[in-house]
Amino acid sequence: MRVNLTVNGRPQEADDVWEGESLLYVLRERLGLPGSKNACEQGECGSCTVRLDGVPVCACLVAAGQAEGREVVTVEGLAEYARQRSHATDGTDATDAPGTSLGEPGTSLDEARRWEARPAAEAPDALSPVQQAFIDAGAVQCGFCTPGLLVAADEMLERTPDPTDADIREALSGNLCRCTGYEKIMDAVRLAAARQSEGV
Ligand code: FES
Ligand code: FES
Repeated sequence: MRVNLTVNGRPQEADDVWEGESLLYVLRERLGLPGSKNACEQGECGSCTVRLDGVPVCACLVAAGQAEGREVVTVEGLAEYARQRSHATDGTDATDAPGTSLGEPGTSLDEARRWEARPAAEAPDALSPVQQAFIDAGAVQCGFCTPGLLVAADEMLERTPDPTDADIREALSGNLCRCTGYEKIMDAVRLAAARQSEGV
């Protein structure tokens, strides 16, 4: 079957999808977006977390057909998503935002595939605030859990701009990290919240 969905602001279609295929498989193997990680495929680790119509879900547990006609945001589109959100809040035009090619919204597949981490000085708008906070707080080691944590943390900060530690723990409770322990991850989200409230 063919599945039509919007990924990071752009309409996409995936062909020859079989009935038991997961959204995670479509994103990684058919659309070439490997940011969402495949660790457990059982909804246990949260490494595959994406937003489906705004709600964080484990992409490994969503059947591809369930995503028909819906909006998906992956870690590859997080910076652009955050930019558009802040432009929507401050009333400026998101299509003027740096990194938005040809004035069109969303992140193209090519842009997403070419994405690579660069120092903030070279690419000041390449990262969303929560991504920069994870780097600055040293909350990334192997990075396997990071995309899922970033998507979940960003959604929580959108909903709860001034979170308590309990809010952060609850939002991230479905995301497992084998490397960092969770203290630096907590620091990163606190830092992102503080910068957000100061408008940094
Ligand atoms: S791969 Fe989806 S929750 Fe672990
Ligand atoms: S940084 Fe390695 S699993 Fe979290």
